Amino acid sequence: MNTVELSLGSCKPFEFMAPWRSIKAVCANDFALDLGTANTLIYTGEQGIVVNQPSVIAVEEISDKVLAVGHAAKEMLGKTSRAIRCIRPMKDGVVADSQMTALMMRQFLRTARRRRCLFKPQVVIGVPGGTTQVEKRAVIEALHVAGARAVKLVEEPMAAAIGAGLPVDKSIGSMIVDIGGGTTEVAVLTRNETLYSHSIRVAGDEMDEAIQRHLQKNHHLQIGILEAERIKLVIGSALPSGKRRFATVCGRDLST
Ligand SMILES: Nc1ncnc2c1ncn2[C@@H]1O[C@H](COP(=O)(O)OP(=O)(O)OP(=O)(O)O)[C@@H](O)[C@H]1O
Ligand SMILES: [Mg+2]
Repeated sequence: MNTVELSLGSCKPFEFMAPWRSIKAVCANDFALDLGTANTLIYTGEQGIVVNQPSVIAVEEISDKVLAVGHAAKEMLGKTSRAIRCIRPMKDGVVADSQMTALMMRQFLRTARRRRCLFKPQVVIGVPGGTTQVEKRAVIEALHVAGARAVKLVEEPMAAAIGAGLPVDKSIGSMIVDIGGGTTEVAVLTRNETLYSHSIRVAGDEMDEAIQRHLQKNHHLQIGILEAERIKLVIGSALPSGKRRFATVCGRDLST
């Protein structure tokens, strides 16, 4: 049997470093993030989408102890006592409450990390076109507080177009329209660059609020925001369908 004697001195630096790098690669848990007004998604190259939850958090008012995030917190929206604060910390595609955003993201990142490891994750996150420097700093800070090591920003229309499989790297124009909860974005992309983009802070949330206002004004019925969203999903349509659709609505009768 042949034996080979190894000593630390005989190792070249890169040979010594290689296993360390591979351990780091296994543990690194780097993520792509879509921190949306309505929903948060976390994606890893290895596992695909590992978190897909509403951007909602519930905390104990007195201690800021996190009681629920995501679906469980959304169930509590508008139904909590004064002792519990249940909010959507993102508004119009940007951070509205930095402390609550950081607390929510800490929970989501914990869920996404496969195992405890020494290295904090690096994240790439989409931001709406037209986001100001102050708003960009707010999202970076919230993610650092949540436990991210490095934060890189990417324009959401570009990320959405790549995700939709549009040929953004080709010399032809690709158009993307993304209607979210808080922002609607339109962009024309070519050769990995944005030729034109426009973002307005009107989207699904405003549709829900319009349904609430309509029922209050025309039917004297007060409904919650979740009920308004449900009605939108049941009978709403982007195109005229030609037939009338109906939904049973639950709310508080304001005329009695
Ligand atoms: N089938 C549907 N028809 C109409 N609206 C829908 C439908 N499905 C989801 N929505 C609405 O889309 C919105 C959520 O979309 P999305 O998850 O893309 O938003 P977001 O990325 O969190 O928000 P933003 O990008 O604006 O920050 C919600 O207002 C939801 O009610
Ligand atoms: Mg979005």
